Amino acid sequence: MHILFFSRFFFFFVFLTIILSSKGFASDARCYKIGVIGTGYVGLVLGTCLAEIGHTVTCCDLDTRKIDSLNNGLIPIYEHGLEELVIKNLHDNRLFFTTEVAEAIQSNDIIFITVGTPESLNGEANLDFVFDTARTIGKNLKNPKTIFVKSTVPMGTVQKIKEIITNHNHFNTPFEIGYAPEFLREGSSVNDFMNPDRVVVGAENPDTASLFKKIVAPILKKGAKFLSTSIASAEMIKYAANSFLSVKISFINEIADFCELVGADVDEVAMGIGLDKRIGAEFLKPGPGFGGSCFPKDTLAFLKAAEKNGTSLHVIQAAVDVNDFRPSKIVDRLETMLGSFDRKKIALLGLAFKEETDDVRASPALKLMEIMVKKGAFIQAYDPIAGTQVQNDSPNFEVKASLIEALAGVDAVLLATPWKEFLEFDWTKARLLTKGDLFFDCRNLLDPVTMNEATFELIQIGKKIDRF
Ligand code: UDX
Repeated sequence: MHILFFSRFFFFFVFLTIILSSKGFASDARCYKIGVIGTGYVGLVLGTCLAEIGHTVTCCDLDTRKIDSLNNGLIPIYEHGLEELVIKNLHDNRLFFTTEVAEAIQSNDIIFITVGTPESLNGEANLDFVFDTARTIGKNLKNPKTIFVKSTVPMGTVQKIKEIITNHNHFNTPFEIGYAPEFLREGSSVNDFMNPDRVVVGAENPDTASLFKKIVAPILKKGAKFLSTSIASAEMIKYAANSFLSVKISFINEIADFCELVGADVDEVAMGIGLDKRIGAEFLKPGPGFGGSCFPKDTLAFLKAAEKNGTSLHVIQAAVDVNDFRPSKIVDRLETMLGSFDRKKIALLGLAFKEETDDVRASPALKLMEIMVKKGAFIQAYDPIAGTQVQNDSPNFEVKASLIEALAGVDAVLLATPWKEFLEFDWTKARLLTKGDLFFDCRNLLDPVTMNEATFELIQIGKKIDRF
C-alpha cells in the first residue's frame, strides 16, 4: 500500500518537473514582481524579456500614447521578435504597461531604472531623467525595495542616485541599489538578452548581487557567465566595453585605408588577425564608421568623464577622431572616381545606422548624404525600414519608396547599410536602371563576381582598385 502510494507520488513529481522544465522554468527559478521605469529601447526589451522568463513585470512611462499602443501590442520600434513577445506576455498577464509610475514603484519589490541618458550639448550624458526617476522612487518608497540602474550612466552616478533616493525617502524605508549594465545590440536585442556572453552586476551588498543572479537564473542556466563587481567597476565596464568595440572598428577602418594603398585585402586581414583568440573575429568589419544611439554617445561621455576626473583616454579619443573623419574619406574616394559631385545623381542604399533596425540616430549613411549634398550631388535614398524616420529638409535629397526607384538614372550607387534586401537583389536587372556603372559598396556586402557580371564597377572598402 505504502509502496503504491509513494510510487504514484514519485511519478506525479517527475511529471510535474517535466511540465515545468518544458515551460522553461528551472525548479529553483523564482518569479518576482518587477517594475521597469522607462519604456525606451532598453526598458521595453528588458521588461518584455523578464516577463518571458517568468516574472511579472510592469513597465511604466509618462508617454500616454506610447503606453496605450503598447497595451494594444503595438511597439514603437522595429526590433526583430519583440512584438511577438510583447503580445504573448500581455496575453499571459505577465507584462503590463502603465503611466502610473508611483503606483508601479509602490506595488513592486524590484525596480529597474531604464530611462534615457541622452547626449548633452557638451558631450556629457544628460542625467536629468535618471535623477527625476530617483526622486520619484524616493517619494514612493513605502516598503523595502531593491533598485537596479540599467541606464548607461557615468562613474559615480549610482552613488548620486542613492543619495537622491535617500533624501526623498521620508518614510526611511530600507532599500538596496545595484548597477546592471546593458549589452544589448539593436536588431538582435531579444536574442542578446536571452543568450548573453555574460551578465554583470555591481552592488555594495552581496545579497543585492545574489538577488540579481536569481532574477536572471533562467538565462544563466544556458551558460552565460555571471560577474558580480563593485558599483564603480560595473559603471566602468559598460563604458569600457562600448569604447573598446568602437576602438576595434576604428582600428580596422584605418587598416582598410592602408590596405587600399598597398594592395592588401582588409577582409583577409581581418580574418587573419581575428582567428587569434586574443584578438577575436568580431567587430572587425570595415565600413563608414560606427553610428547608432550608443557608441558615438558613450565614447564622448566616457572622454568627458575622464576629463572631469583629470585624466585622458588617448586611444578612445583617436577612435572617435578616426570615426568623425570616416564619412568624408568615403565621399572623397567616390568623388575622385566620379570627377565631381556637381549635378550628379547618387543612389544611397540604406539610411539606418546598421541593418535590422529603423534607428537612424548618428547614422553614417546620413553623414554621407549630407557631405555629398554639400558637394552638389542629388541623392535618391532608399532603406527597407528606416525611410520614414528621416527628416527631409533638403531639396537635393529624396527618400524613395523602393530600391528600383532609388536606382533610376543615377550616376553612381553608394551602399551604406548592409541590408539583406541588397544582398538578394537582382543587380543585373538593376544595371538597366542606372546611368553610370560605379558602385561603391562601403560595407563589403556584395559579391564582386556577381557585380562584375552585372557590369557594375564595384568599389569596396580596403581593397585596391587598379583603375583609380
Ligand atoms: C552597441 C553594443 O554592441 C551593445 O553591446 C550596447 O549595449 C549598445 O551599443 P548597437 O549600437 O545596437 O550596440 O550596434 P552594434 O551592432 O554594436 O553596431 C554599432 C555600430 O558599429 C554600427 O554603426 C555598426 O554598423 C558598426 N560596426 C559594428 C562596424 O562598422 N563594424 C563592425 O565590425 C561592427
